[in-house]
Amino acid sequence: GTAQIGVTGLAVMGRNLARNFARNGFTVAVHNRTAAKTRALVEEFGSEGSFVAAESPEDFVAALERPRRLVIMVKAGEPTDAVIQEFAPLLEEGDVIIDGGNAHFEDTRRRERELRERGIHFVGVGISGGEEGALHGPSIMPGGSAESYESLGPLLERIAAKAPDGSPCVTHVGPDAAGHFVKMVHNGIEYADMQLIAEAYHLLRTVAGYSPAKIAETFRDWNTGRLDSYLIEITAEVLAHVDAATGKPFVDVVQDRAEQKGTGRWTVQIALDLGVPVSGIAEAVFARSLSGHAELREAARSLTGPAVSPLGEKEAEAFAAQVEQALYASKIVSYTQGFHQIQAGSETYDWNVDPGAVAAIWRAGCIIRAAFLDRIRGAYDAQPDLPSLLSDKRFGDEIGAAQDDWRAVIMEATRQGVPVPGFSAALAYYDALRAERLPAALTQGQRDFFGAHTYRRTDREGSFHTLWGGDRTEVSTD
Ligand code: 6PG
Repeated sequence: GTAQIGVTGLAVMGRNLARNFARNGFTVAVHNRTAAKTRALVEEFGSEGSFVAAESPEDFVAALERPRRLVIMVKAGEPTDAVIQEFAPLLEEGDVIIDGGNAHFEDTRRRERELRERGIHFVGVGISGGEEGALHGPSIMPGGSAESYESLGPLLERIAAKAPDGSPCVTHVGPDAAGHFVKMVHNGIEYADMQLIAEAYHLLRTVAGYSPAKIAETFRDWNTGRLDSYLIEITAEVLAHVDAATGKPFVDVVQDRAEQKGTGRWTVQIALDLGVPVSGIAEAVFARSLSGHAELREAARSLTGPAVSPLGEKEAEAFAAQVEQALYASKIVSYTQGFHQIQAGSETYDWNVDPGAVAAIWRAGCIIRAAFLDRIRGAYDAQPDLPSLLSDKRFGDEIGAAQDDWRAVIMEATRQGVPVPGFSAALAYYDALRAERLPAALTQGQRDFFGAHTYRRTDREGSFHTLWGGDRTEVSTD
């Protein structure tokens, strides 16, 4: 075969990825379970580059040059396993199967292990940027063997988004499932970013009394500063949009129930297993599920709270500036938590992920792309073993400078009964992390009291138990 790469599964993401490869000069074999889709792609976009349409799995595999590079773009879960079962027997040692779906990283670990035994490289690749990204340049997070990246990397570097400094937004994240894990955390951070923006919007709408159009303007303004990011940019677009049917702001005619496909939930589930406090991401997932409980919300509508009284014009303007501070500070915390999870995953699974390199490939192409990420890259480049983003001097100083406003916003929200779970979880994390002493000492005392679970002392080594039911003397339990 002559095709340098093949794509099977030609729904929107697969189709656009195939076109991206072709537009960049690669010969692309394309295949789909129903051949009509394959023919349609070639008919419609054949002029963009060199495609080889394959009707059967055998034709598809035969169309590829060796070692074969075959990208699977089907639904995560069962369908991915089915396609692997179908193609693996047709492949040879050294061939590379690439899974570009949003797979759960545990599935990727299993598949990598199974295929490695058959001499086939399996590369789980996180791809972010939606349909547009797939076509014009996504952020790409490949895992798999270093050897597979040697053959795959140059192709991915061509089709990836380019950061402002020109470097492609792709790197070998680490072995086996490192890529899918990092993509999962990307989505968790995406959830948190979106929730924080939603809270900022909610406060501007209620407490500041701004219209959606005015809030769009505010976000546009913020987007010229340190919050400069794709999500802030599209927020302004969505808020400025007017519903054609009713003439009302679009945001007012959409049902207020957020849905989710599951990657944010996975992030939190895995964080619980790893013991990483990702409270901001968790609140974002919970905020979505709460919004979806229509019956609960209906039943709670009679509960009382303070009536929201919008601020006057001057105060509203000052408040909006404080909200920007709260949003930025909370965002620093979300990324701190997300990068902690990446580091914990990397240690647990022995992936040796470079957090600075992850921040670098998130600078363009992906949904959370932001000017901010270049600063995270800078922080990790300056100190690769940074224990936490908050321990970076610049971020620490910034959050310190933002905190008065951040606290004021949360107090005002609380006073007026506007829920800000993301802002307040972020602040609680900040305050807990920097605390000299935490009430965890009391928790340990309680555990020792009811379950003889023992505790450690501040002044001596070893573990101890107090005879709570007896004379309350302390015994050493080592
Ligand atoms: C991306 C997006 C993409 C998808 C999300 C949506 O990085 O391109 O994250 O993967 O749009 O999974 O997630 P929810 O449906 O869970 O909001």
